[in-house]
Amino acid sequence: MEPHVVSPAGSVLIFDTTLRDGEQSPGCSMNTAEKLVIAHQLERLGVDIIEAGFPIASQGDFEAVQRVAAEIRTPVIAALARCVRQDIDAAAAALEKSARPRIHTFLATSDIHLAFKLKMTREDALRTARECVAYARARCKDIEFSPEDATRSDPDFLCAVLQAAVDAGATTLNIPDTVGYTMPEEYGRLITKIRQTVVGEYTISAHCHNDLGMAVANSLAAVAAGARQVECTINGIGERAGNAAMEEIAMALHVRGDLYGIHCSVERAQLYPASQLLSRTLGFQVQPNKAIVGRNAFAHEAGIHQHGVLSNPLCYEIMTPESVGMPAERLVLGKHSGRHALLHRCKELGLNVRTDEVDALYTRFTHLADRKKKVYDQDLISLVLAHREPGEKSSNLAAAQ
Ligand code: KIV
Ligand code: ZN
Repeated sequence: MEPHVVSPAGSVLIFDTTLRDGEQSPGCSMNTAEKLVIAHQLERLGVDIIEAGFPIASQGDFEAVQRVAAEIRTPVIAALARCVRQDIDAAAAALEKSARPRIHTFLATSDIHLAFKLKMTREDALRTARECVAYARARCKDIEFSPEDATRSDPDFLCAVLQAAVDAGATTLNIPDTVGYTMPEEYGRLITKIRQTVVGEYTISAHCHNDLGMAVANSLAAVAAGARQVECTINGIGERAGNAAMEEIAMALHVRGDLYGIHCSVERAQLYPASQLLSRTLGFQVQPNKAIVGRNAFAHEAGIHQHGVLSNPLCYEIMTPESVGMPAERLVLGKHSGRHALLHRCKELGLNVRTDEVDALYTRFTHLADRKKKVYDQDLISLVLAHREPGEKSSNLAAAQ
């Protein structure tokens, strides 16, 4: 049996860091009970690895990692540690009851981090990475090493540190775009250079932040260049502008399977439930136009779009709301809606609109829609029935309710 998790041919491992990098961001902290609820949903989602926390950071984080490690048995459970023995000991202790533990240790490699944050020389960093990976490997067979701020590091020095990490026993090399600085082509080239330079058995991982809105594009560029693990979070939560959003990566790989030919284990119908669960847990609304899981992600209001979708959803939809577990409510009635959508909704509500009623109903509808942002079902029922004879009214109303 492999000592660490390896992606099957043609697939990429999904490493979820909602409970660590995600939780680290303002307004997103979770207690142990909340982390456990999310961890169970991550297991239902079928992610390969859950990063449960940073055990040295606090007693609460230590306990949360411990509980997740004891309860969640299918995915690998990772714990974060700086390249410091005390951190690695805390991570190993928190993971003691895990069926599939991973220690994730990191050390910055960019000159700016070395000089101003760590006050280390490049030589110090190379030695520290080697020693700490070896120290971690003596405690766990599955070791991930991250050179923090990799994308602003000197590529040759970065490769030297990565080689030292592999030689000391790292099984996954994660390449963080810590400050969300890189661009897809550039990140893809960096992944290629690492694969060509660093010798040994390891999985390359992408870890992208969204400061320039590139986190998902960069992660996909890394996959195209041979990365076989992607780090991401539900709803893209994470430090500052966030991490790469899991739902976007999973659906991009699925919808554009023709282009990537790479599979991931995510249970797509669990994406929307996961997004809603996290949003409720944090009290953090998902932006309405958020790709895949936002309230408007599958809503069509413009008349031309509504007509197209009613004729065939493929006119304007590249995936269905059902496929990500979202209840279908495709057509939003508003001032941009046309007759087709109006009549379709009336029919769904059991309101039989006669041909001679359509023009007048549509005029009343547009006047109302001008005043209100959204026309609700009850508004529509009133619009239709207000102009009917009493007998006609009750039969229709019965059908509508
Ligand atoms: O963004 C980053 O550099 C990180 C590392 C700890 C992997 O989150
Ligand atoms: Zn990060």
